[in-house]
Amino acid sequence: MKFVIQGGEKLEGEIEVMGAKNAALKIFPIVFLTDEKIRVSNVPDIEDCSRAEEMLLAMGHEVKKVGKGIVEIQRKSNKCVDLPEDLMNKFRASLMFVGPMLVSCGEVNFPHPGGCVIGAGTRPIDFFLDGFLKMGAKVRISENRYRITAKKLLGAEIFFPKITVTGTESLMMTAVKAYGTTVLKNAAMEPEITALADFLNSIGAKIEGAGTPTIKIQGVKKLGGGEYGIIPDRIEAGTFAILAAASKGGPITVKNCDPSHLEALWSLFDRIGVKYKLGNTEIKIFPGRGLKSSDVATHEYPGFATDLQQPYTVLMTQAKGSSLVHEAIYDRRLLFADSLTQMGANIIMADPHRIVVSGPTKLHGRKLISPDLRAGIALVLAGLVAEGKTEIDNIYQIDRGYEKVDERLKGLGADIKRV
Ligand code: EPZ
Repeated sequence: MKFVIQGGEKLEGEIEVMGAKNAALKIFPIVFLTDEKIRVSNVPDIEDCSRAEEMLLAMGHEVKKVGKGIVEIQRKSNKCVDLPEDLMNKFRASLMFVGPMLVSCGEVNFPHPGGCVIGAGTRPIDFFLDGFLKMGAKVRISENRYRITAKKLLGAEIFFPKITVTGTESLMMTAVKAYGTTVLKNAAMEPEITALADFLNSIGAKIEGAGTPTIKIQGVKKLGGGEYGIIPDRIEAGTFAILAAASKGGPITVKNCDPSHLEALWSLFDRIGVKYKLGNTEIKIFPGRGLKSSDVATHEYPGFATDLQQPYTVLMTQAKGSSLVHEAIYDRRLLFADSLTQMGANIIMADPHRIVVSGPTKLHGRKLISPDLRAGIALVLAGLVAEGKTEIDNIYQIDRGYEKVDERLKGLGADIKRV
């Protein structure tokens, strides 16, 4: 499947933001922490969520769709099974099942998780394994497969060498029923982590400090069931706001989002001269006249999100001047810049973590392939801004994280077809 885009259309109107992929994917594994039913709402209809639901079903648990974006999940067997390998290879967040399964079964076997091509090598999981070891588990590694066992999980003090989002979430979830208290230090502070902690506390966990660098978890015996409304996807909201800033049409309102999760982007918008108005649950962006360029470095939350780096790079091709884009979190997350250069952008690869974008340059449509979901959506943005026809192949990678994005972009007047 591919997207075919005729660029240059004047975009205007409203676009709705869905529930956050990186919040939703952390709720499914909670079925291993409680026997009660969990009702999740505002679940985005994206490939990664379908894979997570398939994982639960494959392991014999219940997944019931009870309405648009509303799913009821519940553990239905205490059988300890291996994580489905074919599904583990499809998305990184499959790793989130490991900790909770270790809690409920005392043993978990799995291959190295797949997903995006970004990150050093095959995106290491050493921080997870070190955390499980500190909590008393045994870890055996044999050619790309892991076997972790733990008769009893004990509270521990865990310092993360690098800030890791899923590492923080995974060990927070593993600690909620451990014996004693766990302290996570140098923890990630993303809004999805605070939301996860709030939900776990609402079903009986004892977690303090989520959203700060130090999170304290007191182990409890049992967790109940409850409802969880997934927070809006700040990366979708930021991506659409950047598209609006790059467009030449009328005002664009990004709806159903939480602007307070995107302070770093608004401060960038102020620097480059984007006109916008923040509401409580929406942002209205007015068409950019002459945008100025500005350097940016990606940083853990609340800094500028690495998941917005690629869309921002596209925006900088349309801004006046040169901007240094420093991708400080991941290796290989700048490779997509080659595609922009093919479209006519003026980008110099200074080193694997830094590029210099000079603009404004006219982009021309090309045949492209989406390497991962964030680069993929950036290529869609480039296609919308470019002159002529752009074809983007491998759009499974885009559908992993953006629900029916072609339909929603058509709502703004974009000429985009899924063929
Ligand atoms: C989460 O990935 C998100 N994924 C990513 O979004 C996001 O880009 C990233 O956080 C940073 O915000 C999910 O939540 C499913 P990290 P995560 O662990 O947790 C290194 C998307 O497109 N590291 O914070 O896997 C790692 O290589 C995805 O939705 C280790 O070295 O990212 C990276 O350099 C892309 N060892 C750095 O830490 C480990 O054990 C940060 O990675 C774990 C991570």
